[in-house]
This record gives sequence, structure tokens and C-alpha cells, in this order.
Amino acid sequence: MEPCIAAKHPFRVDVKSGQRYSWCACGYSKKQPFCDGSHKALAPKISPFRFIPEQDGTLLLCGCKHTSNAPYCDGTHKQDFVQKVPLTCPCYS
Ligand code: FES
Ligand code: FES
Repeated sequence: MEPCIAAKHPFRVDVKSGQRYSWCACGYSKKQPFCDGSHKALAPKISPFRFIPEQDGTLLLCGCKHTSNAPYCDGTHKQDFVQKVPLTCPCYS
């Protein structure tokens, strides 16, 4: 199952060391870039990517959901298959 492209850009987020985060891998969450549980109904084969930062800081987390280095943006969103797709995901409504 392909993830929904939640955004055509990364999300810049401040994170705390030792805190647990769940990055939305399916794209359907309305709390981007984090999971809100929507994958259970809309993308049951996709699970969130859970991570715990080792230090406080600002991260660029992938919004297009097509990164090869989850949960981080790796620049894939610059490609045409992301930039030229119509914005039809439920997360845009
Ligand atoms: Fe997308 Fe949970 S809502 S992974
Ligand atoms: Fe997904 Fe950059 S936002 S790779």
C-alpha cells in the first residue's frame, strides 16, 4: 500500500531527548508529521515509525512519506512524482 502524500515538504519540529515520538508513515494523520491513529482504519498495513531522539534539537521530518530514511526528509519530495501529484488526500480537507 502506498502512503498518502501528506505534504510536499518536510516539517520542522522541535524534539526533546528521551521522549517517544511516532512519525506518521501512512500520510493520513491530521496531526502531521506525527501519527494520530488514522492508519488503523485508512492504511492498516502501514505502521508509524517510532523513535526517541538522543538529544534536544530541531528535526526535518518527512511530509511526503516517500523518504528512504524515515522519519527524516531525504530530499525525495523534490521529485516530480511528489511535486506534480494533485493534493487529494483526506489530510488536505
Ligand atoms: Fe499515519 Fe498512524 S496515522 S501512521
Ligand atoms: Fe519527504 Fe522530503 S518531505 S523526502
